[in-house]
Amino acid sequence: MPKLRLPKIPATHITPETVWSSRRTWLRQAGMGALALGAGQIMPAWASKDAAAGAGSLADQLTSEDAITSYNNFYEFGTGKTDPYDYAGNMTLSPWSIRVEGEVAKPQVFDLDRLKKLAAIEERIYRMRCVEGWSMVIPWNGYSLSNLLKVVEPTSKAKFVEFTTAMQVDTMPGLRRRIINWPYVEALRIDEASHPLTTLVFGVYGKDLLGQNGAPVRLAVPWKYGFKSGKSIVRIRLLEEMPLTSWVDVAPEEYGFYANVNPQVPHPRWSQATERRIGGGMFAPKVETLMFNGYGDQVASLYAGMDLKRNY
Ligand code: MTE
Repeated sequence: MPKLRLPKIPATHITPETVWSSRRTWLRQAGMGALALGAGQIMPAWASKDAAAGAGSLADQLTSEDAITSYNNFYEFGTGKTDPYDYAGNMTLSPWSIRVEGEVAKPQVFDLDRLKKLAAIEERIYRMRCVEGWSMVIPWNGYSLSNLLKVVEPTSKAKFVEFTTAMQVDTMPGLRRRIINWPYVEALRIDEASHPLTTLVFGVYGKDLLGQNGAPVRLAVPWKYGFKSGKSIVRIRLLEEMPLTSWVDVAPEEYGFYANVNPQVPHPRWSQATERRIGGGMFAPKVETLMFNGYGDQVASLYAGMDLKRNY
């Protein structure tokens, strides 16, 4: 994120995906047949009403699978938007496990199979807003991270939850450049991490995550700028003190710990008031960015009394 790049959108990304075939299959596999929606309807009953309103007509169009999997930020593979697509296919995805440790009564290592069975994997359509000014509407497949936290039993000292991304020196060419003090580390306050919207993600469009999207398991925190959603997670640590997170380490005056989507707080080098919806076409009008990315009804109470300009 060192500088704002205008998205270069290949022509193939211009048509939004309104129907996708694998979806019903996924819902069936996930035992969610009863919740299956008709083709073209994309908002599940539990989705934020704000998410469907306010951001203009683009708000109800799913970003195409093609765009979600080829326009990415995953600096371990390089800083170009297509680097993750070009290189992440070489990642070693199996075996995979997440070590959960720190301020917990029951520290343990979860292999991917066990992780996938901890709770029912649901479809969660979230608007995701990158700090650089672009956004997507993504049908993730996952469950609330709180399901995992419950199993390890956080102690009363656990105030923060830290997420560390894998470092595969052989498959991640970006690690050779010190853009970040690798590994990539992100964190949330424990109440944010336990919020039902905070999702441990295993898939998109009913298929296993691809490397570029953070395979095999990542986070999605829809009311925060995208950099809070760490990819390819190998360790979760519960901590008493706020850890130093990667982007705060790189540029503390530009990237804060909270990183709540907030159109009223500009980045020092650009406004955050509007966003460009990827897949809407190069000439599509920008859409207005919503406070908490439109999830204010669910999350604003987490920040009651806090100055969100100071805690950016
Ligand atoms: N996680 C890791 N490990 N490395 C990264 O570079 N980029 C972040 C976030 N998670 C990043 C990461 C940023 S800036 C964004 S906008 C989102 O991933 C992008 O997710 P997507 O490519 O799946 O849309």
